[in-house]
Order: sequence, then structure tokens, then C-alpha cells
Amino acid sequence: MKASVLVTRQIPQPAIDLLKKNIDEVDVFQENRDLTADEMLAKIKKQNAALTMLTDTIDSYLLENAENLKIIANYAVGYNNIDLETATKKGIFVTNTPGVLTDATADMAWALLLAVSRRIPESDNFIRQKRFNGWSPMLFLGGDLQEKTLGIIGAGRIGTAMAQRSVGFGMKVMYYSPHVNQKLEKELSAKKVSLETLLKKSDYVSIHVPLTPYTKHLIGKKELDLMKSTAYLINTSRGSVIHEAELVKALEEKKISGAGLDVFEREPVIHSGLFQLNNVVMTPHTGSATVETRTKMALMAAENILTALKGKTPPNLVNTELRKK
Ligand code: GLV
Ligand code: GLV
Repeated sequence: MKASVLVTRQIPQPAIDLLKKNIDEVDVFQENRDLTADEMLAKIKKQNAALTMLTDTIDSYLLENAENLKIIANYAVGYNNIDLETATKKGIFVTNTPGVLTDATADMAWALLLAVSRRIPESDNFIRQKRFNGWSPMLFLGGDLQEKTLGIIGAGRIGTAMAQRSVGFGMKVMYYSPHVNQKLEKELSAKKVSLETLLKKSDYVSIHVPLTPYTKHLIGKKELDLMKSTAYLINTSRGSVIHEAELVKALEEKKISGAGLDVFEREPVIHSGLFQLNNVVMTPHTGSATVETRTKMALMAAENILTALKGKTPPNLVNTELRKK
């Protein structure tokens, strides 16, 4: 079809192929970096569709100047990088990639949980430094999972998948969420509790909320103070849900046992204090980074674009006010 689409980074090829097969002009930014605001503005002005990354800031200025834009298909489940209100006002569809990355992200949360509680990166470094001199009764003692309590903050798709994986580890589950999660209540006998109760009682706390004005700094000093000194905090959602400087203090002062972090407040900037700490395991926002999942996300974003350009409602519409009757 006669249309143009901007793809702001290189994404799995099957999605590029699908776009190229159906759309005349497909502009894939080839460099291994984000577009600057000026570059983005110059490009997006002319396009009918944009396939964007969570690192692209799609603000009101950009949207006001994107005269031909019909859809922004974000290559992520989170869409806090997009000014949704302005997009809706301008009649621009915004879509995300829900569902397809649920398992990969829950797996990553578990990878971080196990890595920090069983001290895997520390142990690996120890061996590489040729310091392993033989089995030792007190070497790298960590935390157990059996009978411990997993507290899920945000029991949506990913939080639910995180909780379901705890069955094999013999854990108890509680969750904090605006809604009762029937699946968790029935299958895991999990209870919906207040944030305060969850923080006080959990041995492992895992965050799975979207970033919104309400969830920004949901976990700050007061909340960290409520946690057990033996507890671990895992975050695979958005960095700003945690007050990072307060987390660093809590870890330094051993107010909690450790943290597993895939996301940070000012990516790619990492709080300098985190580099000094052994009780933190960090990954570079790679929660959904598997070959299969990233391919599914890319194809989903491409399908959303093709549907929107055909004048129909894209399947993963976020600003549902724009749904065509
Ligand atoms: C990744 O952080 C996503 O929102 O998909
Ligand atoms: C996001 O996909 C969620 O609902 O957890």
C-alpha cells in the first residue's frame, strides 16, 4: 500500500520483511543508537506510522507536528514513553505488545530472584578470580525459597506468571493489586493484601506494575523500611517505580538482603552506589530479550501498523477511546 513507516531501531527481520511486503516506504533507522529529538521530529513529520522503542520519547510537541501520523506501535508492553493524552486528542492510535512477552519477563524476574538469593554472579566472579580453594561449610550462604512468601506487586499478566512459577519452589504467595485476581486466589490460594502487609510479610517482593503517576516511587524509604532485613526486592517493570537512591541506602545499610534489577530510574545511567554493592544483581533491561519473544513483539507491532493503515482498529490498541465502531 502507498504509505510510509518509520522503524526507529533495527528489530527482528521477519517484521521488517512483513512491513516491506505491504508498505511502499519503510525507513528503518540503521544506527545502533536512539534517534535524537530533532532527528525524530524530522522523520516522523512525514510518516504515516511509527514503530517505536521504549527509549523513544514521544511527547506532545512531536505529536502536534506529526501531521500524517496514524499510529505509533510501541515495541514494548509499557508505553509510559508516549504522551497518550495528546495522541488520543490527535486521533493517533497507540499500540503495545501485551501477552507475547509475559513468560520471558516472568522468567527474567525468576532469574534475578535466584541469582541474587543464591549469589550466582558473586560466586561466578569468585571462581574466575581463581579463589575457589575447595568446598567450605560457610561459603556463599544465601536464602531459601521453600515455605517462604513471595509478594507480587501488580498482579497483571506478568505478575500472575511470576506467581505461578512459584508453585514448583513451594512458596506462599500474596499480592497487592487494584483488582482481585481469581486465578491467583483459586490456583495458589494467594491473598490480596495491602502494600504495607505485603512488604512486612514477604521474603521476596517482585514488582510488575506499569509506570504511571501513581506508581512512580511506589517503593521509597518508608516502604523499604517496612521490609524484612532478610528480604529481597526484584524489579523487572520500570526503574522509577522504586526510589533508586533510597534503595541504594537500604542495601548499603543492609536494611534488606538484596535486589535483582532489570530496570533503572535514569537508564542508561545507573546510580553509582549500585556498582559498589555485592547484594545486587543487575541486567540491562533485557526482560523480554529472547529471540522468540522479540520476534513475536516485532511482528505484533508490524501487524498493528498494517491494520491501522488499512483504516481498521489495530488489535493491541491502548487508547481505546479511538476504537472504531
Ligand atoms: C519492556 O520493558 C516492555 O515494556 O516491553
Ligand atoms: C503486562 O503485560 C502485565 O499485565 O503484566
